[in-house]
Amino acid sequence: PHRIDLAVIPGDGIGPEVTAEAVKVLRAAVGDDVELSLTDYELGAEHWLATGETLPDATLEQLRRHDAILFGAVGAAPGDTRIPSGLIEREFLLKLRFSLDHFVNLRPSKLYPGVASPLADPGVIDFVVVREGTEGPYTGNGGTLRGGTPHEVATEVSLNTAHGVERVVRDAFARASGRRKKLTLVHKHNVLVYAGHLWKRTVEAVAAEFPDVHHDYLHVDAAMIFLVTDPSRFDVIVTDNLFGDIVTDLAAAVSGGIGLAASANLNMDRTAPSMFEPVHGSAPDIAGQQVADPTAAILSGALLLRHLGLDAHAQRIEQAVEQDIASRSGARRTSAIGDAIAAAVS
Ligand code: NAD
Ligand code: IPM
Ligand code: MN
Repeated sequence: PHRIDLAVIPGDGIGPEVTAEAVKVLRAAVGDDVELSLTDYELGAEHWLATGETLPDATLEQLRRHDAILFGAVGAAPGDTRIPSGLIEREFLLKLRFSLDHFVNLRPSKLYPGVASPLADPGVIDFVVVREGTEGPYTGNGGTLRGGTPHEVATEVSLNTAHGVERVVRDAFARASGRRKKLTLVHKHNVLVYAGHLWKRTVEAVAAEFPDVHHDYLHVDAAMIFLVTDPSRFDVIVTDNLFGDIVTDLAAAVSGGIGLAASANLNMDRTAPSMFEPVHGSAPDIAGQQVADPTAAILSGALLLRHLGLDAHAQRIEQAVEQDIASRSGARRTSAIGDAIAAAVS
């Protein structure tokens, strides 16, 4: 494209700090090749406190018209009583992912050279988690009976459709086919028999279309062992929305930390814009101090460019990040990291 019409949602906490650096690097990476048009949207927990709005339908319709969305993070501190936990997560973030049909939540994990892993002998870590993004226990299919009494019953139903599982499994196989040709389904079909068996059957059926891809299966608990003891065994992991959330924070931790972990919420049918965001949250404990690592947000910008067909520009960002990481010594301010990477890509 010659022009990218980008929506930017900085959000709360460190969201604005890291998003500013991602924008800086995106501008530097595309240079004069692409005209970047940016529209800022003020949304998130602070916006809700000020206005009572989470994600108005009119705003959602405006967001729909952009080529892509760059998002920082939203959310209040866990102990903050001014905002009910889950309100902004559900009514803003999940509403966006569901409305824009972001069925592939792509979360790559790569241990870059020179990065300290908490693992003594990490080996080569280079895998992607393909996390389902629109179903599972995230759909709000739950309720409570006799709330607040000693007899309260709370349910949180996991929704899994054949259509929803099949499209994300097929995407994961296609990615594996373009990589080291190994796909691991992570689930828990020894306990979650209905959803687990749907996932297992779907993987076996779709596998027939990808004879070059080897596939295996791990229960999610055992998968956590191997993520720590032998992460190089993984190439593509496909899993549901909740397992994928948990797996990708551990994946980030073993491959250099949450400050480096990028993600893409992809609508692979391209019926709506995709959204790019770091895996981490608003980190209220370090917000406003310019100490957050903007690398995850910057790498999410690279995923954005790749999704829009700008592979060479995306690669330039990834290479600049790799060089920057390899040369890191002392602590640098958020903006200094962005400046260094921007200088290296332009
Ligand atoms: P978090 O990811 O915000 O923070 C976890 C820990 O990681 C904190 O110690 C934080 O300081 C650190 N951290 C996170 N990003 C970092 C960075 N770029 N550089 C250095 N350190 C970093 O998770 P949390 O504390 O569980 O959640 C805080 C809020 O964020 C909650 O309201 C939660 O719902 C929300 N959240 C939002 C998103 C999102 O918007 N996509 C994702 C996760 C959590
Ligand atoms: C993430 C976050 C979100 C999720 C929350 C904030 C809704 O943890 O993007 O990983 O669970 O998907
Ligand atoms: Mn998460």
